[in-house]
Amino acid sequence: MHRITLDPGGSAFDAGEETILNAALRQGVALPYGCRDGQCGACKAQVLAGEIEYPEGAKTTALSDTEARRGYCLCCQARARSDLILRIPEAGGGAAPEVRTLPARVARLERLSHDVMGIWLQLPSSERLVFRAGQYIEILMRDGRQRAYSLANAPHDDEFLQLHVRHYPGGVFAEYAFHALKARELLRIRGPYGSFCMREDSGRPAVFVAGGTGFAPIKAVLEHAFAKGVPQPLRLYWGVRATRDLYSPLPRQWAAEHANFSWEPVLSEPLAEDHWGGCRGLVHETLAARHPDLSTYDIYTCGPPVMTKSVADVAIRHGAPAERIYSDAFEFAAK
Ligand code: FES
Repeated sequence: MHRITLDPGGSAFDAGEETILNAALRQGVALPYGCRDGQCGACKAQVLAGEIEYPEGAKTTALSDTEARRGYCLCCQARARSDLILRIPEAGGGAAPEVRTLPARVARLERLSHDVMGIWLQLPSSERLVFRAGQYIEILMRDGRQRAYSLANAPHDDEFLQLHVRHYPGGVFAEYAFHALKARELLRIRGPYGSFCMREDSGRPAVFVAGGTGFAPIKAVLEHAFAKGVPQPLRLYWGVRATRDLYSPLPRQWAAEHANFSWEPVLSEPLAEDHWGGCRGLVHETLAARHPDLSTYDIYTCGPPVMTKSVADVAIRHGAPAERIYSDAFEFAAK
């Protein structure tokens, strides 16, 4: 057994042959995590003292080579080889909200685009879900499987829990949402999870990079920031294929209403009918072109793993410290 101590905070737990994350959760220590599969980076920690190892077959997709060299590890994959002191970037301070399992009624369904469904869920009137802007919930399916979706609403606007579900063929919940789900149907949800939350108190300008429905948690985080009146510059890049995939008019509205917010859509495959004169290409390439120096920024990115990893690589190459890059990666199979 090895002793794992967290810095800051000083809380400690023991770990044997299991992953650091499993050891923490088993002993009631709330470490941040998301996919538990090496993909999302939510469980990233810096090893300040001691040694870790990855068992054969461990996945470390969410960790760049630079981060690994700087002593970062993925707690969902790594095991302790000695006593450890770990620095865990805190998710906005304070204790993590309690994870709860609740019934939720579908109050409204709305096609937001050709392949994105907006779902508004309502909890029983006596219940409330305490969550942080940017967290996600799981939908518990009747067959025992679950699917994770980011909450697209901010905590101050919690009459309904809002989800953005992208359709893809064979998607367990996505197919159901598009073809069978009806208003007033009762679902079961569990959450909140995740640590994709804005560090507003840093005072640093923030860049948000969304891919497709990765816009959902970023919407929640930005609406929370607007409600709090954070003064720092907030810049959004939203990468999609074509204009029909820009499924929300909100960025345009935010830019008109908030002097510290600006945004740029980036289209990778605009259609002829788009007559697109704006930015083309992959969103991480635009990030690289627009920001030669990211050393003074906080970076938030949400989308498919290949995108969030490319964004993190660009951000690090352009001077952003790894601990100021926050990503929420999802596989379509998982979210
Ligand atoms: S929880 Fe470890 S990488 Fe996602």
